[in-house]
Amino acid sequence: MTRGIFVTGTDTEIGKTAIAAGLAAVLKNRGVHAGVMKPISAGGRADAKLLQQATDQPLDTINPIALRDPLSPNIAAERENGDLDLSPVFSAFDHLLQTCDCVLVEGVGGLLVPITDDILVADLALRLQLPLLIVARAALGTINHTLLTVEAARARNLPINSVIYNALSPGPPDLSAQLSPGVVTRISGIPSAGTLPYDPHVDVDAGRLGRVPELIDAHIDLSLIFPDLL
Ligand SMILES: Nc1ncnc2c1ncn2[C@@H]1O[C@H](COP(=O)(O)OP(=O)(O)OP(=O)(O)O)[C@@H](O)[C@H]1O
Ligand SMILES: [Mg+2]
Repeated sequence: MTRGIFVTGTDTEIGKTAIAAGLAAVLKNRGVHAGVMKPISAGGRADAKLLQQATDQPLDTINPIALRDPLSPNIAAERENGDLDLSPVFSAFDHLLQTCDCVLVEGVGGLLVPITDDILVADLALRLQLPLLIVARAALGTINHTLLTVEAARARNLPINSVIYNALSPGPPDLSAQLSPGVVTRISGIPSAGTLPYDPHVDVDAGRLGRVPELIDAHIDLSLIFPDLL
């Protein structure tokens, strides 16, 4: 049974929020009730607010921990109140698991971002027992970044569902964007769920999801990501 998915990225600002919010909207359109979480935010709650658009969840269950500074959570917490207590994250997650068809959790930055000095984002994904959906750049460099993320996940026995390649610049996909997904799959065995085209109308900070749900519908293999929900 699909518990949900943990949306991580090969980098920060790679499209995790746009894709997680888009997936929640597509699932809703298909009658699937997805819970959403951005467990820890740092530097504002724009991600959590965009995720909220496809749900009826209160902001505090989406984002139980909101840190002021746009820094890795361990440092942001140190600068305001010391240690982070993750128990509100686990109780909000357990509640969503019980009340929703599945839960989409957006990580913080990439897999090795420290939440505390002892708990990395990868450890959180492991604790929540969710497989990873890796968001990667559809551009030159993505083979290296994606394989590094796959290797870090495998070193921790974290299951990987698939990769979505995200076009973050306008214009038609260049050769690298076209060929890299096949190379990553050939080398790692991890399937590509597709490439999300560039959408000039999406703006996470302004709360605009643009055409991302329609583009996900048209370009992403949802039955690979949610095999028993769709
Ligand atoms: N397919 C796309 N086309 C155009 N712009 C996009 C696309 N996907 C994301 N963006 C834009 O790129 C920026 C980064 O996206 P997003 O906020 O989803 O990344 P993120 O990985 O969630 O970042 P963070 O690490 O800060 O949480 C945003 O301004 C967003 O609007
Ligand atoms: Mg985000």
